[in-house]
Amino acid sequence: MASDKKFFIETYGCQMNFADSEIVNSILIEDGMQPAETPEQADVVLVNTCSIRENAETRVWNRLKELRTIKKTNKELTVGVLGCMAERIKDRIIEQEHLVDIVVGPDAYRDIPRLLKEVDDGRKAVNVLLSLEETYADITPVRTVGNGISAFVSIMRGCDNMCSFCVVPFTRGRERSRPMESILKEIQQLSEDGYKEITLLGQNVNSYKDGENTFAKLMYEASQVNPEIRFRFSSPHPKDFPIDLLHIIAEQPNLCNYIHIPAQAGSDSMLERMRRPYTREQYLALIDQMREIIPGVSFSTDIIAGFCHETEEEHQQTLSLMKEVGYDLAYMFAYSERERTLAHRKFEDDVPEEVKKRRLSEIITQQMDIQKVRNQEEIGNRHLVLVEGTSKKSEEQLSGRTDTNKIVVFDRSDFEPGDYVEVEVTDSTSATLLAKPIKKSSITEFFGAAVEA
Ligand code: 5AD
Ligand code: SF4
Repeated sequence: MASDKKFFIETYGCQMNFADSEIVNSILIEDGMQPAETPEQADVVLVNTCSIRENAETRVWNRLKELRTIKKTNKELTVGVLGCMAERIKDRIIEQEHLVDIVVGPDAYRDIPRLLKEVDDGRKAVNVLLSLEETYADITPVRTVGNGISAFVSIMRGCDNMCSFCVVPFTRGRERSRPMESILKEIQQLSEDGYKEITLLGQNVNSYKDGENTFAKLMYEASQVNPEIRFRFSSPHPKDFPIDLLHIIAEQPNLCNYIHIPAQAGSDSMLERMRRPYTREQYLALIDQMREIIPGVSFSTDIIAGFCHETEEEHQQTLSLMKEVGYDLAYMFAYSERERTLAHRKFEDDVPEEVKKRRLSEIITQQMDIQKVRNQEEIGNRHLVLVEGTSKKSEEQLSGRTDTNKIVVFDRSDFEPGDYVEVEVTDSTSATLLAKPIKKSSITEFFGAAVEA
């Protein structure tokens, strides 16, 4: 039943959460609701939450407390919690804090219209059931916040890996893949809508499987939809990385030469405690193979500092792994204990906070140095940049990314967001390349046509 209420969704956490918010947009609009411009103008504010680390949850709690103040002036306001925090704290949220009227887990978004009606009838409403099948395959996301150039497409949900530190298998449930047909249909629509860059998302993309269709096959089929859309994916696992995919990336100019490949740690002992089923040697061999098959490929990774029982020696091995690979980018975190995980049940979170902080800052400092050098090596190189928008620092400059995912800033001239521009790198910092634009170009012009698979 349609209602003319206005809603506002705030999203915290990973790209997957942002993609989920677009699905919720679609469900609510389909139900007759309208998006509001600000939370103050909304009848319903939904906060899509993240549980991956303690500080992510703290941010959400603080925001919920702020929303309570809006609730004081607008008694009719409905506040909801969506996503990963829903299951774990449903009782606390609803009973103790009086902050929230509705709690919805990541697999129950189709139920939101019904739950909102329960709230209208004066009840609190909760659905945190996880599903073995839900992929929202038939729902076309409504992309309200993006730039109209880059889009995320979710291809699978959940994770069965059970890394010992990670709460995701508990908050998002078991792995399941979306049918390939529905993914390709969404990509086709994005192509017709003028999108230029698509990132295929899943908690563990190499487990993608739809009958005979593997992740490599999906990437190949995606690349064929439109040769002028570039494709990325996130995140794969180093275990069982599909080698055939590397050849497909090398052959298809519109599959980006950039791989996010989370290492987490650099020593075999730590990888074992983390339940990451590969050794340092196997990880490094995979990196070598990737570099061999895809010349010029760039890498990013995820690293955790101060996981349970981490010794100074293990920390040094993480530093040395990072140096050996020479990542172009890294997401680096201090370990944050999560309830229900194997680490919580089995190990003690025994690395003192100040040691975690010190190790993390050593990891970050080294990574900044590595990036500085790697980016200096780019000076003089030519890249194809997809312009995403105006640079943060100056209206006169544009900012975009290379195929290898490096941020590039250059003079606006008459280029526009959405253009592919050939540039030559003139200068660099650890985070950004500065460049001079050469000319407007295209994937086919810059990289040549695809090699027949
Ligand atoms: N503490 C710190 N970092 C974590 N990550 C996952 N769980 C935790 C945790 N408990 C990191 C991992 C993962 C990324 C998405 O978040 O590095 O790859
Ligand atoms: Fe978490 Fe590991 Fe699954 Fe990534 S692969 S979501 S870190 S359990």
